[in-house]
Amino acid sequence: MAVTRTFSIIKPDATRRNLTGAVTKMLEEAGLRVVASKRIQMTKEQAEGFYAVHKERPFFGELVDFMISGPVVVQVLEGENAVKANRDVMGATNPADADEGTIRKAYAESIEANSVHGSDSDENAKIEIDFFFNEDEIVG
Ligand code: RTP
Ligand code: MG
Repeated sequence: MAVTRTFSIIKPDATRRNLTGAVTKMLEEAGLRVVASKRIQMTKEQAEGFYAVHKERPFFGELVDFMISGPVVVQVLEGENAVKANRDVMGATNPADADEGTIRKAYAESIEANSVHGSDSDENAKIEIDFFFNEDEIVG
């Protein structure tokens, strides 16, 4: 297995409840290293661009509104097989389906307000990292 990178967002439901540290601790305990991190208020244009793959889905408008409802923390995570390691510790999209020990089981409020985003492939990780970070902001 190789050391790779993935992209994470700590979503507004989690920042609102002051869970940035608690979520990050679970990421670190899963073997991931935060190599870039910043707290931002996403614009509507950024959220629409980031979630463009979902623009035909019925929940797109609500998802965009939710993602701009408060600050988020965008992060680059590095580790062995980072995309899968992150998805494993995140848990299922719907917290009702999430396994014990996952971030969404512990903290998600609903299928939408589910505390974290994580890239779903190495290819999308690179696209998503480039969407929010310059290379000189990432220090491994
Ligand atoms: P993410 O992209 O945020 O890591 O989550 P995911 O892969 O587990 O889920 P995805 O299918 O990519 O959906 C993106 C986000 O849209 C919201 N969602 N709402 N109301 C709904 O039925 C619904 N389904 C998905 C969630 O915030 C989900 O994480
Ligand atoms: Mg997704």
